Amino acid sequence: MTVLVTGGSGYIGSHTCLELLNAGYDVVVIDNLCNSSPKSLQRVEELAGGKHIPFYQADVRDRAALTKIFEEHTIDFVIHFAGLKAVGESVAKPLAYYDNNLNATMTLCDVMGSHGCKRIVFSSSATVYSGDNKMPLSETSKTGNCTNPYGWTKYMGEQILRDIAKADPEWSVCNLRYFNPVGAHESGLIGEDPKDIPNNLMPYISQTAIGRRDHLSVFGNDYDTPDGTGVRDYIHVVDLARGHVAALSYLQDHKGECIFNLGTGVGYSVLDMVHAFETANGVDVPYEIAPRRPGDLPTVYSSPEKSRQVLGWEATYSLEDMCRDTWHWQSLNPNGYQD
Ligand code: NAD
Ligand code: WQD
Repeated sequence: MTVLVTGGSGYIGSHTCLELLNAGYDVVVIDNLCNSSPKSLQRVEELAGGKHIPFYQADVRDRAALTKIFEEHTIDFVIHFAGLKAVGESVAKPLAYYDNNLNATMTLCDVMGSHGCKRIVFSSSATVYSGDNKMPLSETSKTGNCTNPYGWTKYMGEQILRDIAKADPEWSVCNLRYFNPVGAHESGLIGEDPKDIPNNLMPYISQTAIGRRDHLSVFGNDYDTPDGTGVRDYIHVVDLARGHVAALSYLQDHKGECIFNLGTGVGYSVLDMVHAFETANGVDVPYEIAPRRPGDLPTVYSSPEKSRQVLGWEATYSLEDMCRDTWHWQSLNPNGYQD
C-alpha cells in the first residue's frame, strides 16, 4: 500500500513517514519546502534502514505536479499535512493562509478523485474547538468561533472534506484533531526546526536551554489554573505519528467522515513544562512572567477515549520522554537541519 504524504518533510510529516515505513507502507512525499528542509527525509530514509522515499518538491496547489505524482504511482491513501501554521502570521496575512491551506486541500481532493483515490487523513487541530466548551474536549464538543484565520482554515478544511464525503459515499475522510505536538524521534536525527523565533512553547524552551534565546516569556500567571499559567495537552510527536498509522487501518474498511482527537487527555501548565524540562535534562530554563498572549485560553485538553476505543490507539510516551527527546534533538542539532 502506498501513501502520498503532503508536507511530508515537515515536523509531524517526517515522523509520520518514518512510522509508515516501519509499518510496511510505501511512502511518496510532496512538499514545497516553504517551512522544512530536504534533510529531514534523508534522515528518515536512514532511520528506516535505507528505504527510499520518492520526493516531489512542488506546491500542493500545483495541479500538474500532483497529476504527475498520481500518474507515476498508485496511491492508496493520502495524509495531508501541507499547510501554513503560524497563528500570528495568519492574522497579518489572512489571504496567504486561506489561499495556501484551502486551495491546496481542494486541488488535492480534486486530483485524488479523478484518479480514483478517495481515502484521506487531514491534519486538523484542537484550535477548531470553540473556546466556550467544558474540558475535556470530545469530538462532539462545539466547534467554531475560531480566533484567527489559521484556525478557520482548519475548520473550513474539515468542512470541505465532510461535504466531499457526503456527496460521494466512496470517500473515506478522517479529520484528526491534534492537541500540542512536542518532542522528537528518540534518535535525535529528526525533530522540530522552526525557521524563525518559535511561536510554540516547547521549541522556545529548548532554544532557551541551549542559549539561542535569553529567557522564556511565560504568557500570564493569573489564569484560573493550579499555578496560574496556561494548561495544554502535550503529545509526543511519535505517538501522534502512530495515530496516523492507526487512522489508515481504520480507513481501510470505513467510508464517510470520521473525527478523532489525538491527545493524551492530561493537561500540564507552562511551569510544569519548564520544570519537567529542567529535571529531565539537567539544564536551566530562565523565564520571566509576561502579559497574557491575546487569544489564549486558560486550559485546553482532550478526551482521548474515542481514539482509544475506535482506533485502538493511545499515547504511550510520558512528559519526561517528551522533554528528553526534545533536548536530544536540540543538543545534537543546535541550529536544526542547518548543522
Ligand atoms: P510544518 O510546517 O513543519 O510542516 C508543514 C509542511 O508543509 C512543511 O514542510 C511545508 O514546507 C509544507 N507546505 C506548506 N504549504 C505547502 C504547499 N502549499 N505545498 C506543499 N507543501 C507545503 O508543520 P507541522 O507542525 O509538521 O504541521 C503539519 C500539519 O499539522 C499542518 O497542517 C499543521 O497546521 C497541522 N497541525 C500542527 C500542529 C502543531 O502544533 N505543530 C497542531 C495542529 C495541527
Ligand atoms: C502553549 C502554552 C502559551 C509560548 C498553538 C496553536 C494551535 C496549535 C498548537 C496548530 C500557552 C504558553 C507559549 C511562549 C508561553 N497549532 N507559552 N510562552 O497556544 O496551545 O496552540 O499551537 O494547530 O492552533 O494556537 O500552543 O505552544 O503556542 O502555547 O508562555 O513563548 O504555552 O500561552 O499557554 P497553543 P503554544
